[in-house]
This record gives sequence, C-alpha cells and structure tokens, in this order.
Amino acid sequence: DKGGHRHFMLKEIMDQPQAMTAALKDRADFANGRVNLPEFPLSPADVMQLERVVLIGCGTSLHAAQVGRHYIERLAGIPAEAESASEFRYRDPIIGPRTLVVSIGQSGETADTVAAMHLAREKGATLITICNAEESQAARVADGALYMHAGLEVGVASTKTFVASLTILQLLSVYLGQLRGKLDAETTRRLVDQMARGPGLIGEVLAEANLYSSLARRIGHYDNFLFLGRGANAAIASEGALKLKEISYIHAEGYPAGEMKHGPIALIDPEMCTVALAPRDDLRDKTLSNIKEVKARGGLVVAVLTKGDDEAASEVDFPLFIPQAPDLLMPLVTTVPLQLLSYYIALLRGCDVDQPRNLAKSVTVE
Ligand code: M6R
Repeated sequence: DKGGHRHFMLKEIMDQPQAMTAALKDRADFANGRVNLPEFPLSPADVMQLERVVLIGCGTSLHAAQVGRHYIERLAGIPAEAESASEFRYRDPIIGPRTLVVSIGQSGETADTVAAMHLAREKGATLITICNAEESQAARVADGALYMHAGLEVGVASTKTFVASLTILQLLSVYLGQLRGKLDAETTRRLVDQMARGPGLIGEVLAEANLYSSLARRIGHYDNFLFLGRGANAAIASEGALKLKEISYIHAEGYPAGEMKHGPIALIDPEMCTVALAPRDDLRDKTLSNIKEVKARGGLVVAVLTKGDDEAASEVDFPLFIPQAPDLLMPLVTTVPLQLLSYYIALLRGCDVDQPRNLAKSVTVE
C-alpha cells in the first residue's frame, strides 16, 4: 500500500516522522528526562569498562554509522569509529571485550555486515545490532538487538530506516553517556526533550515537498553533482550523493566540505551542481566560505540553510530552507531535502524509483 503516493519511496519519506516516533517509543522517557534501553546487553558496571565503540554497516547504514560516531563521542564520551563492514571484515581489527561493536542494517541480512559481526564475535567484542528486521541473521548473531520498528521498507532506497537508525544511535549515545556520568541529569533531560521535537521538525520539511519538485525541474538536467557538508553533515552529504546516484543514475559525489580544495575543486565549472549543507551551526561559516569558492568558479549552488539565514541565501542559486534545529537533530533534518530532491529528479528522468537497475533491497551476496 503506497498510502496514496505514486511510489513507495515517497510514502516512506513521508512516513519518517512516524518512524522516528516509533524508534523513540518506550525508550525516550519524556516524563523523567531519561533514556531506557532494556534490550542493551551490558550491565552498568560493564558499560563503565567500555574503551571503544566501532560502528559498522554498508551503504546508507554506513552513513548512519558515520553520524553515530559523532553522537557517541560527543554524548557518551567514548572513542568511536565508523567503518564499512566490507573493509572491517578483511582486516585484522584490534577489538576485544572492552569494545562495543554496533552493526547497523535495515535488513539484518547484508552479507558483509553479518560476516563482520561474526568476526567481532570471534574476537570477543560486545556486539549489538540496530536493525529493522526481527528474526534476521544480524539479530541472531548479536548479544542484543535494538529494533527500529519502522515498518516494512519497500523502496530499494533506504529512507525511513535511515532516520530510524539515527534516532536509535541518539538514544544509545545518550544512554551510554547517562550511565557513564558524561551527561548530568539536566543535560540528559534537555537532549530527550530535543528528541521529542524531531518528528515535528522533519514534518516541517515534508510539508514543503512540492518545492523540491519545482527545483528538480531547474537542476535535473545536470549530469554531475557534488554534495558537501561538515561534521555529522559530511555523512549526510555522502548519503545525499548515494540517494541521487542510485535512483536517478546521475554521477554524484559526497565530500567533507573541507576536502574540496584538496582536489574536487578542479571539477567546478558551470556544468557542475554543488549541493551544500550549511545550516546554522558551529561549522556554517566554514561551509559558507566553500560555497563562495564554488560560486567564484562559476558553479551552480543549491544549499540547505536555516530559515531566516538571508546572508547565506544571498550567496547561492537555490536556497532550501529547513527549520532551526538543535545540533542533535540536524542530520535527521538535513537529510530530508536531499531525499526529496533525489526522488523528484529521478521522477523527472523517468527512472524506476522503487526498483533501480542493478540493485537489490537486500545485498546477501558479497
Ligand atoms: O539492509 P542494510 O541496511 O544492511 O543494507 C545496506 C545497503 O545495501 C543499503 O543501505 C543501501 O545502500 C541502500 N538501499 C541505499 O539506499
């Protein structure tokens, strides 16, 4: 059931506020300003002993892992890294009982992710999975599963399960920070209150979905796209590029904005469309200077900006406004314009949005 939409992908994009609410349910304790994760397998004493968190996944789930790394370091205060499961499994990673390995996957059946989990298990790490499919291989191998409860995702392009993954990574990070004393009661309450605002903020972007359809008509003919972002938004830039290439078959790259001048800047000309993530946060000014560099070289710039940021808007060709959001929620909010843009560009180009060529919903071969 496409819920009255033309494609599952659009329905699933529109379902994201509910997907976030479902992931928060029974975990974010709004009354007491705390996070409860009864499924988490370690005792509070063992949580204190954790030395490192390694987040693994593939494709969109790797991008969730990359955002999760920021959350874990900032909120739980534990050194964290994110890696493609297909890379992790073929090296000899140094992990042990004080390493928490977090696998992320919609299906729980991705061959590389499951193999990487077996490796983590052999090496004695504590292993949890964030996944949407109950009864999946990932859930069987892990010591504990944090289910997304996002409902079935049919479109090959992951959308609502990405938002659900990020939501659970927030919960996990706050939970660990809470147990380890990195977050005091007041900070924890503030973060939990912020999470409660997530579905509404995502909904505000979705309410303007029609704007993306008209923007698609203006830029859908470009054959090359560069997505730029900083901090957690660097991972969202990669996710934006992945969405565009997989459903519209347009060449797109995602880069941390600070890397632009180390090579990609040579690509900038009037044929290149740059999509920059520059919402109001600590890094906005830095990204704005990258935007100016692109403009100075004749490139076209679409930018995701905070509503009311007229100064930044005056520097770009097409501003896409999102509501002011706390840092915690920013990656969930900035990802939505990129999903909508990809969807409408693919539609315009006559692509099979829900079943893109060469791709399968679940990649069970290596
Ligand atoms: O089921 P998983 O999350 O483990 O799948 C991993 C990737 O194949 C998947 O995220 C893929 O990149 C997306 N369908 C892209 O939208």
